[in-house]
Amino acid sequence: MIMASIGWSLYKPSTRLLVAASGSRTMRRLQGYFLCPKIYMGSLALSTTLLGLSSLMKKKRAFIVTDKAIRKLAEEILPVFRLFGFEVYLCDKAEPEPPIGVVEEIAREMLQFEPDLIVAVGGGSAIDSAKGAWLKYEFPNLDIGSPVPLTTIGLRSKAILMAIPTTAGTGSEATAALVLTDTTTDPPRKVAHLHQELVPDLAILIPEMTMEMPKELTIGTALDVLAHAFDSYINRNWANPLTDSLSIGAIKTVFKNLPKVLEDPRNFEARFNMQIAATMGGLAFSNASVGLTHALGHAIGKVFRIHHGKAVGITIPYVLNFIAHVDDGYLNLAEELGIHDGDRLEKLTRKFVDFIESLGVSIALKAYVNEEEFKKNLEIVAKYAFEDPTTAQSIRQPGVDEMRKLVEYMYYGRMPDW
Ligand SMILES: [Fe+2]
Repeated sequence: MIMASIGWSLYKPSTRLLVAASGSRTMRRLQGYFLCPKIYMGSLALSTTLLGLSSLMKKKRAFIVTDKAIRKLAEEILPVFRLFGFEVYLCDKAEPEPPIGVVEEIAREMLQFEPDLIVAVGGGSAIDSAKGAWLKYEFPNLDIGSPVPLTTIGLRSKAILMAIPTTAGTGSEATAALVLTDTTTDPPRKVAHLHQELVPDLAILIPEMTMEMPKELTIGTALDVLAHAFDSYINRNWANPLTDSLSIGAIKTVFKNLPKVLEDPRNFEARFNMQIAATMGGLAFSNASVGLTHALGHAIGKVFRIHHGKAVGITIPYVLNFIAHVDDGYLNLAEELGIHDGDRLEKLTRKFVDFIESLGVSIALKAYVNEEEFKKNLEIVAKYAFEDPTTAQSIRQPGVDEMRKLVEYMYYGRMPDW
């Protein structure tokens, strides 16, 4: 279980080497895993889950972590907890890119309330805030700004974790990842943990929770799903038949259902399918990793202030072409998406480009940033992308020069030809 239990000190070259080696095909034949929460789906999913839990839990004290924007949605489900005899505490202090200080403050409230059930309600930030506060609640002396131990942490001696996503994108409800921000450094430093014990115990997919998502957020989060599913499929070292089926399923579900949601945001079935696709993408990448879509997306998103989902989504065609020069894994993906002959790389590229552009999203960076600002920041974007931990998980690992070239090609909408 090398990858599942490794603390993300991935910025260190030695750890990156270890990760790259553990992802080699030979190593993957020696050890593998598939980590997954229990998943309950549908309008009555929470009631069904709590009915089962209520007889198992001794204290029945539920601590809900959410943010101010989602608080109203979270309040709507409080009666369900009370119906099954839970005492509830609602904390709305979660923030985007959860700062460690805020997470520690949430943990202090947890220590006061002493829950045996922690419930995250929201997008990736609320879920990550809950994961971080849960770590600190169980181990008050643990420094959550440093990589968690390589070995067993021992979570769940005080509480279990339930995640109720309100977006259809991050897949955090199903992943072993936790990303916090250390705001005491300049610039703020991302602290990423990856540990099998961080996979929530329960993921509750209630379609009603995503019905009110505005259009831009719906598109952005859906592109995040597409990038998770694409990356976990295309990086063949980490993928296996379990993750492949989820990756392909998620891509097909997004292609089919996102246009329906955009046409009719109240289309319950399509919203539900998008929510399931997000969890499928989360399961796929948590078990098979993301790669260059996220390395490049993190860098351009941060420097040019582009929404995470959009930033990673627009990189898909470029990463596809870059990797296709060294690995033909994309051929199976083309086959699965109904492309059986001709120049399959070109047709697959076109399929992704047409889909993304049909959402009103340009794949060329020049649509988001003027040339002067782009040139001024090119070097730092290339550096950030190269240093991003997810680069170590790519089947083809570019150096800084290749990253620079990739970003330049992205600016003008040109596909990598090397
Ligand atoms: Fe993502």
